Amino acid sequence: MSNNIRDDLPWWKKTTVYQIYPRSFKDSNQDGIGDIPGIISKLDYLQELGIETIWLSPFFDSPQRDHGYDVRDYRSIASEYGTMSDCERLIREIHAHNMFVVFDMVLNHTSDMHPWFIESRSSRDNPKRDWYIWRDGRKPGGRKPPNNWNSMVGGSGWHYDELTDQWYWAQFLPFQPDLNYRNSEVKKEMFDTLRFWLDKGVDGFRLDIIHTIYEDEQLRDNPYAMKYLPSEEDSRSFFHDNIHTIHHRDNFLFVKELRRILDEYSDPERFLVGEVGAPYDILKRYCGDVTNDGRTDGLHMTFQFKSLNTNMNASSIRKLISDFETHFPEPYIPTWVFSNHDQMRRISKLGNDIPLAKLNAVLQLTARGVPFIYYGEEIGMLDHNISLHDAQDPVARKYSWLPRPLLALITRGGKISLNRDNCRTPMQWDSSDNAGFTGSEVHPWLPLEPRYHSINVERQESDMDSLLNCYKTLLQIRKRNPALHAGSMHLHPSNTASKHLIVYDRKYRRNDMVGQSLRILLNLSRTPMEVDRIDSDCVLLFSTHKDTHPLDDRDVILEPFEGIILDIQ
Ligand code: NOJ
Repeated sequence: MSNNIRDDLPWWKKTTVYQIYPRSFKDSNQDGIGDIPGIISKLDYLQELGIETIWLSPFFDSPQRDHGYDVRDYRSIASEYGTMSDCERLIREIHAHNMFVVFDMVLNHTSDMHPWFIESRSSRDNPKRDWYIWRDGRKPGGRKPPNNWNSMVGGSGWHYDELTDQWYWAQFLPFQPDLNYRNSEVKKEMFDTLRFWLDKGVDGFRLDIIHTIYEDEQLRDNPYAMKYLPSEEDSRSFFHDNIHTIHHRDNFLFVKELRRILDEYSDPERFLVGEVGAPYDILKRYCGDVTNDGRTDGLHMTFQFKSLNTNMNASSIRKLISDFETHFPEPYIPTWVFSNHDQMRRISKLGNDIPLAKLNAVLQLTARGVPFIYYGEEIGMLDHNISLHDAQDPVARKYSWLPRPLLALITRGGKISLNRDNCRTPMQWDSSDNAGFTGSEVHPWLPLEPRYHSINVERQESDMDSLLNCYKTLLQIRKRNPALHAGSMHLHPSNTASKHLIVYDRKYRRNDMVGQSLRILLNLSRTPMEVDRIDSDCVLLFSTHKDTHPLDDRDVILEPFEGIILDIQ
């Protein structure tokens, strides 16, 4: 399978993204909460690591009931994270470090403490009433929600407000009322908010649950579906097929409008990455159509969350690569996401197995697409098992009443986690008390993952064999070699003799310049594997196991779970 080789890819297709959860990255003022000056103090680290773009989860003013995904003011900074001038300095410093910066935009809903909502709920004839979605309850008496729509987190998404005897709609939690994008003032205000940040130099946005922007205007009930638990690529859940609340056809026009705003800016181009849970064909629709000049006209990319739970075996990985290549050929671009602030960390799913984590990193950083690295992923930070009762995460708290057997069923025996605190614990910088995240006397907002004494940046920096150094080397190789950040992708077919082996080539040629061909081999088995005779010009650029060197005219033996990059020019 191959895609055309393009030598004019925009920067955002070639980049590598690092997600920072600001609350947990670095605390500079000793209040136990990470902050913007803390992030600035770690930009050298990220630059040395080889990161090219930083995405920051929201740090706008917020009551923090969903830790920033409940915004009270889109144009100011929450005081625990810093000030507007800290934020402007952050943008400047990131650029001064030759990196790009992406903010997290929660367009679908605000906090119920947002002044707009406070006004909106105050009376039926308030000018902001229509900024949110208010409806009468069902007859008789209006004491039943307007229809059967569920929120994404379970239970009715309608919430009754006694003051005006009406119900408001919230896709997520009750304190996150949905904005009404059928109101032109709302649209204008939110589009101007994007411009406000773009004018300040922000290079792009990650768009929170962008597949839930519009709902059916006629409020038709969602039909029944034989599926209870939500999943990333199937929007049916809680026995409903959410056709009237998720992926509404107007969303696909909306993303094109967003794209046009981003296209008002150039030098550099800006980009949008959408958080969308959907099968591939729908994900692709959010990216728009291919225009006459060979570009797409929707979101620049969406996350493909299928990777989150893909097993580390050759047939699953092969299918993942092949699906990405089939559904997202140039000018579309896949993303490689294995962890984020809502999901159990990948390494915890891999049983804290460092060789597997290294192999995963090779895949993430060498396959065609944009890699998204979640803070701490580069050192193998593990999920902390925090009980639902102790949770700060509002989704976990909602479900803290669950009896153990039911919890085990929902989390598929602990394979996924219901408490998002588990993957949001403070970054582990060193082995001092509180891991260098905050002062040793301070009480951090979430407890440290106890294994931070051995799993931390300082320790891994000095260990050449560490996961951190594996990431660093791979990021450097990716940056230096256009075949990896801009080349075509060719997945070799599987053969019975080596069914646990994944092989793909990345090729790049620019005009009349000498081209480049790299071959990536991943041994996904516990046994050493001999691969085809490779000719004498071949160079071992990278290995998870051995030192790099030119190869002589011999077969290559891959160790169990070894991944290598060969220059096969
Ligand atoms: C998705 C975000 O990733 C999650 O953290 C947040 O709680 C919900 N959207 C609601 O904004």
